[in-house]
Amino acid sequence: GRVAVLMGGTSAEREVSLMSGRGVLAALRSRGVDAHAFDPAERDMGELRREGFARCFITLHGRHGEDGTVQGALELLGIPYTGPGVLASAIAMDKVMTKRMWIAEGLPTPRYVCLTPEQQTHERLRAVPDTLGLPLIVKPPHEGSSIGVSKVNGYSDMQAAVALSARYEPEVLCEEFIEGEEVTCPVLGTGAEARALPVIRIEAPNGAYDYQNKYFTDEVKYHCPSGLPEAEEREIQRLVLASYRALGCRGWGRADLMIRASDRKPFLLEINTSPGMTGHSLVPMSARAAGLSYEDLCLLLLAGAAL
Ligand code: DAL
Ligand code: MG
Repeated sequence: GRVAVLMGGTSAEREVSLMSGRGVLAALRSRGVDAHAFDPAERDMGELRREGFARCFITLHGRHGEDGTVQGALELLGIPYTGPGVLASAIAMDKVMTKRMWIAEGLPTPRYVCLTPEQQTHERLRAVPDTLGLPLIVKPPHEGSSIGVSKVNGYSDMQAAVALSARYEPEVLCEEFIEGEEVTCPVLGTGAEARALPVIRIEAPNGAYDYQNKYFTDEVKYHCPSGLPEAEEREIQRLVLASYRALGCRGWGRADLMIRASDRKPFLLEINTSPGMTGHSLVPMSARAAGLSYEDLCLLLLAGAAL
């Protein structure tokens, strides 16, 4: 039957989503799938049923796409979709809820402080570096692709970092900075079938793996195979699978981590439930290292579409 590739949307990651969607659309069509672009920013979700779409491939990123809302609409329409369901999508989109779930499961994640607008007083902001140390990270709890993220090196940077984050949403998440190596690891599959793919180690210029470097430059070096010691790679994969299960994910996901330089301890930062599928993106890179082409990856994900 007809497949809708959901792409675009209204979040700050709209441009990234359009890049992901174009890639997936071309790949599915190249394998004979009757796939069509569908942008929920321009069309009513109900049109999916009226136009007879049998399944949806979600390449929306961020709010109103990756956060359970679109998943809920598809549940009501009865159209199977790729990736996790409503609850796991909603939790994973919220970095604070995600941390709470992981902490409850004993999984390692950087210490944090989350401040509502009322709590963002001069005194409270000054106290954050005392609690978390410096440098620290300030970010909006529901964004992706490093949008609105700052590294705070001193007390005087706090105000500007909070103001930047607050352009995207009122709450701000302050997180302990883990000095070390940045890695990411995808998971494919559901339940007992879920498995972690090869780890990618990311080497960004001056540690700046930001929006620009994620999608628009070739400044970042990606290592896959990661070059990490075998035992470390296995430990990260074990942790990532546990983090995926802790949130009740299904279909696929990609967890981002830091490995602390001082003791090689890995820390989970977040899990993306609709990971990027652009030409610069990481799940396709890791899948390729595991012998799975971009086209085969798309077919596999589509085959896992569920309600
Ligand atoms: N949020 C972007 C799309 C990613 O994690 O790949
Ligand atoms: Mg993300």
